[in-house]
Amino acid sequence: MCGIVGAAARRNVVPILIEGLRKLEYRGYDSAGLATLNGNLDRVRAVGRVADLQTRADQARVDAPTGIAHTRWATHGGVTEDNAHPHFSAGAGHEICVVHNGIIENHEALRRRLREQGYVFHSDTDTEVIAHLVHSRVVSGDTLFEAVRSCVRELQGAYAIAVISKAEPDTVVGSRRGSPLLLGVGVDGSGKGENFLASDTSALLQVTKYVAYLEEGDVVEIRPDGYTIVDADDAPASRPIVESQLSADAIELGQYSHYMQKEIFEQPGAIANTLEMVAGASALSPELFGADAAEILGRTRQILILACGTSFHAGLVAKYWIESIAKLPVSVEIASEYRYRDSVALPDTLVITISQSGETADTLAALQYAKQLGQSDTLTICNVPESALIRQSKLRFLTRAGPEIGVASTKAFTTQLASLFVLTMVLAKVHGRLDAKREHELITQMRHLPAAMNHILECEPAVRHWAQRFAPKEHALFLGRGVHYPIAMEGALKLKEISYIHAEAYAAGELKHGPLALVDRSMPVVVVAPNDALIEKLKSNLQEVRARGGELYVFADRDTHIDPSDGVNIINLHDHAGPLSPILHVVPLQLLSYHVSLARGTDVDKPRNLAKSVTVE
Ligand code: M6R
Repeated sequence: MCGIVGAAARRNVVPILIEGLRKLEYRGYDSAGLATLNGNLDRVRAVGRVADLQTRADQARVDAPTGIAHTRWATHGGVTEDNAHPHFSAGAGHEICVVHNGIIENHEALRRRLREQGYVFHSDTDTEVIAHLVHSRVVSGDTLFEAVRSCVRELQGAYAIAVISKAEPDTVVGSRRGSPLLLGVGVDGSGKGENFLASDTSALLQVTKYVAYLEEGDVVEIRPDGYTIVDADDAPASRPIVESQLSADAIELGQYSHYMQKEIFEQPGAIANTLEMVAGASALSPELFGADAAEILGRTRQILILACGTSFHAGLVAKYWIESIAKLPVSVEIASEYRYRDSVALPDTLVITISQSGETADTLAALQYAKQLGQSDTLTICNVPESALIRQSKLRFLTRAGPEIGVASTKAFTTQLASLFVLTMVLAKVHGRLDAKREHELITQMRHLPAAMNHILECEPAVRHWAQRFAPKEHALFLGRGVHYPIAMEGALKLKEISYIHAEAYAAGELKHGPLALVDRSMPVVVVAPNDALIEKLKSNLQEVRARGGELYVFADRDTHIDPSDGVNIINLHDHAGPLSPILHVVPLQLLSYHVSLARGTDVDKPRNLAKSVTVE
């Protein structure tokens, strides 16, 4: 949503803050800003990207050992310099600056009260109330640490904040609840200590690999020579310092032009990493999902999957797999819907959340709601260790995709699918629905996935060629059937998200119930055509489109023998990959949206209006 960096050192931290923001830019990129302490409290802000902030900071020649910085994805208030962070409060000899990620739900009540106290607001943001609140405490004699500790008790909603005060030139205070913030512990070139705050580790790898994950409600004060943490009850706390395993290479573009391209091509490796423990085994064990998994999965009678966006699509694929192989009923809900509706909680339900980031606000709230309804058996499939979702679930499975930076999710999706297939097999086994022979066959097929995906990636030149014809279009339909219907949905989401072409997905059998009316010569229809039990039905659906003049772009398994003809364009993939086919069939759709976006000149990795992690409603 938004990205935060803070630094307390003995050297100029402006380049560190800006480089940190660059690494966090995937979290938001409407505007950016920083504030520093070096005798004065200086603030520089810019609408646009971190590069625009860098230009302004260079012009202003800011140079300071203490500072905070922010890259924004607008929620409250438009994209203007006034609304860009840091937000400022001054008076009675004190100056305060705050950066914030999240939403303060009671900001209106706080704003009313602060106005009555004489504070004047200069932005439309919810964040500005925090600046004035902290200021009001500092003016009444609190240190910055004390002020933030008492102030956060008044905040409702989700936040990660970093705050500086002119009166304490070597101190940054941070706090988190619901939004991520971690502490980085470092040493500068001359062996002197320095400490940092950031929304995620990628921002800090430039200065340290040693980080501590702050807990819900923690408040931390950092200075160059140390740090102090108190917990949600205001009691002294210590959080383990861990060495991050994230490598700097993992977050660099390397030979690629865009993160999305890099992440598409990383998929064979990402799947191999995710399945490492599985592929080497001759049989699957429930403990892959946690120590209590055998007991929890054994008592599971039905499954509820909660997720958003691409992760929701992964859940839809899992429904087909689990119901067909493990024979357990599954419902899949969009987290933002589930969290606000009355639903009937059934006993012995396993609640599964799926998320790349592990910090999606709707998914977190849906999980909490499911627990409130008495459904305490929880499992999360997630790409970020130590994320809020992981910490709030009894069972877990990490997709080992590595950092996903492009806003359009690619390798997170295919590794989610691989993980969900493992879960399907484990559930089937625990419930006596998978014999050893079938288990062995499926493990063998999973082992082959990375190689099969490498093979699929070879279709890129043909997809690039199609993309040129797609680029001028404003609408597209995506069709699939059965377990490939969610893959069509994912293809449509990818296309609209980064190329801004309006794309809709339909289960191909639904065409004649309405959407066929949209089909004419100008409507490209993308078809996911695996050689599965529904292929003959799908071929009939293709005829329905051709008969109305629609142009078909078909990604077909080689053994479907669908021939190209006038208005029927075919890219042949592999032979049918059995139940694992959805994991392969999504790849050409990712490539299509990537190349269409390139051809249209849109910003592939940072599409308009979006952000990578949606940590607010
Ligand atoms: O981090 P999550 O998987 O929870 O994120 C969920 C969605 O916001 C995300 O998948 C979004 O739909 C992607 N931009 C799609 O490419």
